[in-house]
Amino acid sequence: MSDVKIVAIAGGSASGKSSIVREIEAYFKDDLIVIGHDNYYKAHDDIDFEQRAKLNYDYPGAFDNDLFYKDLLKLLEGKEIDMPIYDYSKHTRSDETIRVKPTKIILIEGILVLYDERIRSITDTKVFVDADSDVRLQRRILRDTKERARSIESVLTQYINQVKPMHETYVEPSKKYADIIIPRGARNLKGIQILKRHIKHLIEEENEG
Ligand code: CTP
Repeated sequence: MSDVKIVAIAGGSASGKSSIVREIEAYFKDDLIVIGHDNYYKAHDDIDFEQRAKLNYDYPGAFDNDLFYKDLLKLLEGKEIDMPIYDYSKHTRSDETIRVKPTKIILIEGILVLYDERIRSITDTKVFVDADSDVRLQRRILRDTKERARSIESVLTQYINQVKPMHETYVEPSKKYADIIIPRGARNLKGIQILKRHIKHLIEEENEG
């Protein structure tokens, strides 16, 4: 039996998933690796940048879940993978990949990691990070203009046309699959502490065999 376990962290866009994941990653060091679901966005390199910028990136079909599932199965079997890397400023995959070795805990993160039944079936612990939509929109404007080379107009248009309706249709309903819900995103220090303790427990269980 595999001694590798998957922990999934889902939640709306800009809910604070990355901050929580970074903190957990720093705490567990070599026992845990993070696989961002966004690295598995479909590349769409058959169409040009302008067209790619208009695509819907907030529904399940935007992700290459076949590859994501295959890679997770490999990691569970103790095998290495070549993880794709996504470039938000170009709306496509980078030419490079990262060699990822399995560790005791594989932390998967993304808006829709709780959506696909196959992924849920191989996930040990499912977490949903919750945050009010106005807080998420505010964070998203700041982040996308600073880190993802977007204008305020494009962030707002994308939010109204895609992010908000897709959140309501796909992301929010996937919360029902969560074992743990962390309200108030990364501000919820107690919630993060409880999650850390749980992951520590998973690692200790594995060590005890
Ligand atoms: N997205 C985009 N352009 C792309 C691909 C994805 O704008 N070419 C956006 C999608 O609209 C989606 C978001 O990226 O809503 C997913 O990333 P998000 O969850 O916001 O970021 P994380 O850092 O993973 O999480 P968090 O903000 O919660 O920390």
